[in-house]
Amino acid sequence: MIEIGGNDRLWVLSGRRGSYALHLTDHDELLHLHWGPRIAVADAEALAAEPGPPERGFESPLDGREEFPVEGGPRFVRPALSVRAAGVRGTEWRFQHGVVSDSGFGDELRLRFHDPVHHLGITLHYRMRDGGDVLERWTTLAHTGAAGDDPLELLRADSAAWSLPARDRWRLSHLYGRWGAESRLARTGLTPGEKVIGSRRGHTGHQHLPWIALDGGEATEESGEVHSCALAWSGSWRIAVQRLSDGAVQAVGGVGHDDAGQLLLAPGESFTTPVFAGLWTDGGFGAASRAWHAWQLAQVIPGGPGVDRPVLYNSWEATEFEVSEEQQRSLAHLAAGLGVELFVVDDGWFGARTSDRAGLGDWTPNPDRFPQGLGPLADEVHGLGMRFGIWVEPEMVNPDSDLYRAHPEWVQHHPGRARTEFRNQLVLNLARPDVRDHLWERLDTLLSGAPIDYVKWDFNRSFSDAGWPGDAYPQRMWIEHVRGLYELLGRLRAAHPGVAFESCSGGGGRIDLGILGLTDQVWTSDNTDPLDRLAIQHGFSQLHPARVMAAWVTDSPNAMGNARVSSLRFRFVSAMAGVLGIGGDLTRWSEAERAEARDWVALYKRVRPVVQHGELYRLRPPDGDGLSAVQYVRGEETVVLAWLHAQHYGEPRPPLRLRGLDPGARYEDLATGEVHRGAVLGHRGLRTGLCGDLDAAVFHLRKTDRVG
Ligand code: GLA
Repeated sequence: MIEIGGNDRLWVLSGRRGSYALHLTDHDELLHLHWGPRIAVADAEALAAEPGPPERGFESPLDGREEFPVEGGPRFVRPALSVRAAGVRGTEWRFQHGVVSDSGFGDELRLRFHDPVHHLGITLHYRMRDGGDVLERWTTLAHTGAAGDDPLELLRADSAAWSLPARDRWRLSHLYGRWGAESRLARTGLTPGEKVIGSRRGHTGHQHLPWIALDGGEATEESGEVHSCALAWSGSWRIAVQRLSDGAVQAVGGVGHDDAGQLLLAPGESFTTPVFAGLWTDGGFGAASRAWHAWQLAQVIPGGPGVDRPVLYNSWEATEFEVSEEQQRSLAHLAAGLGVELFVVDDGWFGARTSDRAGLGDWTPNPDRFPQGLGPLADEVHGLGMRFGIWVEPEMVNPDSDLYRAHPEWVQHHPGRARTEFRNQLVLNLARPDVRDHLWERLDTLLSGAPIDYVKWDFNRSFSDAGWPGDAYPQRMWIEHVRGLYELLGRLRAAHPGVAFESCSGGGGRIDLGILGLTDQVWTSDNTDPLDRLAIQHGFSQLHPARVMAAWVTDSPNAMGNARVSSLRFRFVSAMAGVLGIGGDLTRWSEAERAEARDWVALYKRVRPVVQHGELYRLRPPDGDGLSAVQYVRGEETVVLAWLHAQHYGEPRPPLRLRGLDPGARYEDLATGEVHRGAVLGHRGLRTGLCGDLDAAVFHLRKTDRVG
């Protein structure tokens, strides 16, 4: 809902629990008023009527108060917009008009400004969808000049700036990591100054997910105000959070990793930034995550709410590059026997790809390995009642490939300079239309030529020599590559609506709200150690829902450096927190192990609607070596997954106090038939009985009746 006040120069956007308010001064300054609990227009008008800060030399009257701080004028904060044309930098804008429109699923506010010197049109967009509190913000920049005018160089074009009120303390939460150790949660005090996270790698990166949360230092999992923001972009990005001298906070975020120039707009051209979404919640970090999850399931992720992701088998850890049709058939039979619903052939099925040294780029089945193509294997997999998927890495080439031999100019490179290889591969320049056309033709042919239901889309190295010889403004490739990727994925999805896509980048190197608009799930991490995974999943769940978080059960000892030995029980319960998959070498599993796995898969299918579509409560974080647990609630059902790392001194672990239940109802444990009272589960808690090292359990409860 959007309400207008203050002589049509004040707007209040309200969701289920929160409001966001802004207004225009008589000098066309667009000032932030409020981001917090619901307020009325009259409240916002009272805020707007308050006098600004006292005038002082050296202090900006605008810093920390503006909706979109541009470069130049009385400002010293980091600008969200920096434009240069004919040697003139900075922006001075005039308000043109504000429009509120009903998009059918929520109101959108568009505020239009114009800089007459640069002929720059700036439109700020605000959209809050019905039923939620996530505010989607983005910006459109347009060159409104005439043919022959100087082009506009966008040195920095952030999506939005978020302003938070002055507080005694601010605490910043964010996600950090590296390959094999992604999305771990860091939570530290925000001292005066600036904290910058991002990626300079051309993809989202394993180092940070584009998400931050800020609280006053008192929020817990269950209580307190939390402001959080997330960027929908899969290339290089930057979020800069600044705690100002008066205790307020401003966060700007957008595409690109520096201010060295991103795009050139010719007269008539425009650039639309990705969405930088913001969410205010009370109810602690848990409520914030649940609101983000609900919004993504309803508005972002393809498929919409209620669609279950299948249990998959992936052959990578079992076979690596030693792929053969016969061996894939036997794995498929074993996987089908466990109840697997989707069988995915990973790397090694195409071109000369018998190791990571050759074949990337040549997307035709290897004739020695699949003499009749992929059709016969796909048919067999379908005959076993499973869907069929393949791995691809379309943005890459090995220098030892037919594609690179034919088109060495298609890779990102600087003329005359070395072409740096990682994993023996180079990055194609998807900003080039001819590269995209080629990939479209190859992938469309592939998907049309065999009954393929699923594509794992990988990206196994970062940009390094990001040149584009012959282009007038080659640095635009950092953005245009990502837009090219989105275009290609969108086109493939439209032409093959039955095919689901997974985003992978050496595990979790490309997880963000942008790619999630075009893919059905993501590969969370190459680290399948079930204990390490708990921390990775804990961080991931801060923003993203279980419905997209792929998690595999692999072999023990684990192939990761820890070589951890763990029971099938522990591995399954760890992976059941997301979209369950199996990635071990099933030919080496004993009959007893396969029988046990069958039971776990059957249990997962029973709890799946609750895990994938329910509301998540993180009961205890995976800190130290104690007990950790998550709970999902959906309608009358609830599912608890609990893990014990290590027991000490024979002490029993504390009961788990469940959330989101009706204290006046009884709940039946569907495995044991035991009946619990809701009030007891919520206050005293559920006894898990976990003991020893690396123990785990699943509890599936259903509400039976009200206590009389
Ligand atoms: C990446 C992925 C793995 C696997 C390999 C194949 O590392 O994250 O899951 O697909 O590539 O080369």
